[in-house]
Amino acid sequence: MPQTLPLARLGVVGGGQLARMLAPACNALHVHMTILDPMHQSPAGQVAFDQIQGALDDPDALRKLCEQSDIVTFDLENVGADILMTLADQGMEMVPSPATIRLIQNKYEQKQHYRKTGIPTADFVDLGEDPAFADVVAFGLPCVQKTHTGGYDGRGVHIIRSADDWDRRLKTRSFLEQFVSGGTELAVMVARRDSGEVVAYDPVEMVVDPDLHLLDYLLAPARVSEDLRQQAQQLAKQTVESFGTSGLFGVELFVSEAGELLVNEVAPRAHNSGHHSIEACVTSQFENQLRACLNLPLGRTDLRGHALTANLVGEPGFVGIPVIEGLDALSQIPDAHLHLYGKDECRPGRKMGHFTLLGEDHHELVQRLESIRKVLMIRGDTPQ
Ligand SMILES: Nc1ncnc2c1ncn2[C@@H]1O[C@H](COP(=O)(O)OP(=O)(O)OP(=O)(O)O)[C@@H](O)[C@H]1O
Ligand SMILES: [Mg+2]
Repeated sequence: MPQTLPLARLGVVGGGQLARMLAPACNALHVHMTILDPMHQSPAGQVAFDQIQGALDDPDALRKLCEQSDIVTFDLENVGADILMTLADQGMEMVPSPATIRLIQNKYEQKQHYRKTGIPTADFVDLGEDPAFADVVAFGLPCVQKTHTGGYDGRGVHIIRSADDWDRRLKTRSFLEQFVSGGTELAVMVARRDSGEVVAYDPVEMVVDPDLHLLDYLLAPARVSEDLRQQAQQLAKQTVESFGTSGLFGVELFVSEAGELLVNEVAPRAHNSGHHSIEACVTSQFENQLRACLNLPLGRTDLRGHALTANLVGEPGFVGIPVIEGLDALSQIPDAHLHLYGKDECRPGRKMGHFTLLGEDHHELVQRLESIRKVLMIRGDTPQ
């Protein structure tokens, strides 16, 4: 069937780095991407066809985005889901559905969904309005306290091993989750389109710094057996299918000590653990997000080799206009690919970019990472 160009007008709620990295896929397919973001010249707004400035839960701004779009997708899940559901009921096409976004926004409801649909996940119990330490002891220590809503990048997650930890608990609506020991964390990107076609990427291993409990780097493919690799892809597809919608999803998984896979949480959008796909896979996660939005046949997810992705975050002790050091050195390293997110302010720990290294084996990639970290850094221009 002939198709008129531009192929579509794609609206994106949120203009962060994920939407920014969707822009090249839109440009390649002659899709006009309009961003809604509160910030003038947001990271994605800088490179999009158009940007509407407004809050992500502002009914007027969301309505305006819908008027300018044939399909709407998301850069993040912290958006006005109720108004989006009303707009979807009025006929606006959204990928994924706002009902799925709303379900995922609430981690407790997300976990209940997994329990109901038979998707393996760590055991959990709600904490109620006025919890006591006795409730925690009854559930079992160690465990993890998680807020129902609003958590990201580990904020909203608190490990409880003792009464002292309980004293430092999160003072908001929360639930308890069994602590999964074993230490291996995987993520599988999955794309699904309205035809029912589903594809999964190879599981990526999230290597966490054991002292800082922060993501250190991502390795693709994950260092797991072929059997576990296939199980992880299967479970990730099943999880996405349980939502009964289309789009791109990041499925975070734990591997328990017994070698069992448990779904931690799902992101209904592109994900940090899929950034390597830009250079390392036949089709990037962003291109498959766009194909899912347009209901086009999905692209192959095969890895072209081994890959390592590390975030470039603001150095402690500085704020202000971003200053990068080591760009010359990085540029001389073979098969190192830097992505800067266009943020005009650098703060300690803020994700300012990432880089992906491609190579033959993981050991060599980690060695290259260590040499890059000696020279590459980003910080604000003003000491704090
Ligand atoms: N039940 C658990 N057992 C062991 N570790 C856990 C558990 N839940 C969370 N964690 C640790 O805390 C990290 C953050 O948890 P989670 O992914 O639920 O929160 P988040 O705030 O959404 O984080 P992010 O935005 O980084 O994905 C996990 O990647 C894992 O290292
Ligand atoms: Mg997570």
